[in-house]
Amino acid sequence: MAQFTLPKNSKITEGKTWPKPPGSNRLSEFRIYRWNPDDGANPRIDTFYVDRDDCGPMVLDGLIWIKNKVDPTLTFRRSCREGICGSCAMNIDGTNTLACTKGMDEVNAGQVKIYPLPHMPVVKDLVPDLTRFYAQHASIEPWLKTTTARPEKEWRQSKEDREKLDGLYECILCACCSTSCPSYWWNGDRYLGPAILLQAYRWLIDSRDEATGERLDNLEDPFRLYRCHTIMNCSKACPKGLNPAKAIAEIKKMMVARQV
Ligand code: SF4
Ligand code: SF4
Ligand code: FES
Repeated sequence: MAQFTLPKNSKITEGKTWPKPPGSNRLSEFRIYRWNPDDGANPRIDTFYVDRDDCGPMVLDGLIWIKNKVDPTLTFRRSCREGICGSCAMNIDGTNTLACTKGMDEVNAGQVKIYPLPHMPVVKDLVPDLTRFYAQHASIEPWLKTTTARPEKEWRQSKEDREKLDGLYECILCACCSTSCPSYWWNGDRYLGPAILLQAYRWLIDSRDEATGERLDNLEDPFRLYRCHTIMNCSKACPKGLNPAKAIAEIKKMMVARQV
């Protein structure tokens, strides 16, 4: 798997090493990025020891165990615990992924290194600030746009046209791909990034949508679309096995096709 650079910080210091749980035979060491906007201190790495015999198998289980049993101030996002909501995206052992679907046995179980998604502002500890990411998603108007009269019951779609959405509709907007993309790291204020462009393509090829020209106009910009240099980190990173780089290539083809 691709390895990515870690969050930009002035200086990360060595933090607290919490005591090992007494009487446990199977421990995992968790080295976790901590930063509290309220204490004025530099970010630090805290070390925790998780009792594997008292804890579920996933990295998220380990984090929840630490929060419940060791340090209730440890801050991270999670909701579904089954790879559906995208909330628990973080950088685990150098790879952007979902903590709830990453087994502790799949990573370096002796010592797991956990950081927030790279190159994003941090709200606290493992929580990245996704404000810009969500604003970029809103900018592509991710809903069905039509001009013809509304049908009595529903907008219909053939089975074949529906299948064109496979590999796209499954995106959970976790941001693992965008935060693994070097172009997004350096130009994230103007480049939409792979997650949002995959979403844009999902609406561009929806047979029911009637705003294709307008959507392409909105992407026709040296930065919003064309900062993708096909580095492919995004597709390697996606924990849902999707291929944002391919979706971006398809949008570029649509741009060319409408010029000929
Ligand atoms: S293929 Fe494009 S979007 Fe994906 S990582 Fe590379 S530059 Fe970023
Ligand atoms: S394409 Fe994959 S990595 Fe990117 S936001 Fe969607 S689910 Fe997450
Ligand atoms: S908690 Fe929902 S994807 Fe991990």
